[in-house]
Order: sequence, then C-alpha cells, then structure tokens
Amino acid sequence: MMLRHPRDAPACAAHRLQTWSPAVPIAIVREVSASLAACQLSFVDRHPPDVALARAQHAAYRHALQSLGCRMLELPAQDAMPDAVFVEDVAVVMDEVAVMTRPGAASRRDEGSSVAATLAQYRELRVIDPPGTLDGGDVLRVGRRVFVGQAARSNVEGIAQLAAHLTPFGYTVQAVPTRECLHLKSAVTQVAADTLLIQPRWVDREPFADYRLIEIDPAEEHAANALWVGTGGVIHPANFPRTRERLERAGIRVLAVDLSELQKAEGATTCCSIVFRGDRD
Ligand code: GLY
Repeated sequence: MMLRHPRDAPACAAHRLQTWSPAVPIAIVREVSASLAACQLSFVDRHPPDVALARAQHAAYRHALQSLGCRMLELPAQDAMPDAVFVEDVAVVMDEVAVMTRPGAASRRDEGSSVAATLAQYRELRVIDPPGTLDGGDVLRVGRRVFVGQAARSNVEGIAQLAAHLTPFGYTVQAVPTRECLHLKSAVTQVAADTLLIQPRWVDREPFADYRLIEIDPAEEHAANALWVGTGGVIHPANFPRTRERLERAGIRVLAVDLSELQKAEGATTCCSIVFRGDRD
C-alpha cells in the first residue's frame, strides 16, 4: 500500500487510537532486508554487509531497547527495499501527532506504508507532500525544540511542512545545515535530558548552545549517533570506545552494541527504530 494521505492508512480513525502507560516507551523496529547490500550510500564506501550477521546485530539492538524498558513493535523485513530496516527515516513521531516523511532518496519512498499502518493506532497522521523531502534521521527533538538537518535528504520545503504540522502543538522548528554527513543525527544526538553528543566537524555547535555538549573523540568520526529513549542509558555502537569513555565520564550509562554490518549500510543506532511515548492523552 502506498500511503498518499493519513486517511488512506488502515485503522487510522481517531477513535481507534490506543492509550498506554506514560512510563512505557514504544519502539518500532523492522528486520534487516535480505537486499541490504543494495542500500543507498552517500558518505561511506561500499563494503558488502554480511546480512546474517546484520540480523544478529539487529537482534542484539532490539534486546538493548527492551532492556531499556521499550515495548517492541517488530515489523517483518521488506526484502525488496534495501534500506527499510532504517525505520527512523519514514516517520517523525511527537507526543501529539506523527508526520509521515517523504524520504530524500526516491528509492526509499515506499518504506513508510506499513509503518504508517502501525503508527495510526497511536497517533493522528500527517504527511510531507512533494516537492518537500524529509528524512527522520534529520530530525532531532529536544523537548519542545525540533532541529532539522538541511542537506541532501531534507529540503527547505520539507522542513517548512514539518514546521506547519508541529508549531500548532507548541514546538519550535529550526533548520540546521550539516556538512559531510548523511543526517543531522549523524552529527548530533541527545544522550540525556540536557545533554547532546556532537561531532563538531559535521555541524556547528552554536544552534545547540543551550545544552551541555559532549564532543566525540576526534579519532571516531561516526561516533555521534547514540540512542536515548528517555530512560536508563544510551545505545551506542561498540566500535567507539573512546567516545563511550567520554559518555561514561559524564555520568551516562552506555549499552554498547556491535552494529558493524548496519554501519556498512550507513546506519547506526537511532535509524533502526522509531521510539515514542506510549501515552497520548
Ligand atoms: N543507507 C541509508 C540511507 O542512505 O538512507
């Protein structure tokens, strides 16, 4: 099913929205596609991933999410869509509403339908329309502030549409240019309520001046992508021990997960899930 509008999503009616405990984050994940090796690549060289190992690593990642208290919604692989494991890019879920994106890579624009069908049980859905493009990996929400990476995948029109969807709920939306990386969340992620992990070569510090910033170790250029679900610690790739040490020195618990095969597909921790609060009202 190709979602054209929220009304097209099954089970989308507001009366079917479900309510969950405020304390329980929900994580949507999707099994790794058999075709992962044919994924989009922008800033990393192509080294074919081992799909069986990628699936084992993804299972460990799911286990880490569960150990952080997430209620898991696990979608089956979409083998014809190499990048479909990176569910983060197809939806932006806030407390009040979910926005189905229009990914910047045309090859990824059919990935959202089944995610929309799942999300429709929890949130009212909105969409990004052409010519807007938006990847969820470019959207960093910190409280009521939403920073959106503006580069190849997310354009001015897509960011403006996101702002139109979210500002009525009291969010501020700010475009942030990135350089030499795929997404804003390749360059900066939230690791605690008031703390961001940042790769200063790929994004300026200035838009994030209101937060405590932890810089990655310069020897680990891809280490800024960590996943905080609002409880416990963060999930962080195991191959960045120096940055892990910086996080731990700052008092942040780190669940290190080997994601080597998903990193070959230019993925990391945030892109493999959509995490949102289970409560709605
Ligand atoms: N391979 C992830 C992406 O380029 O979207």
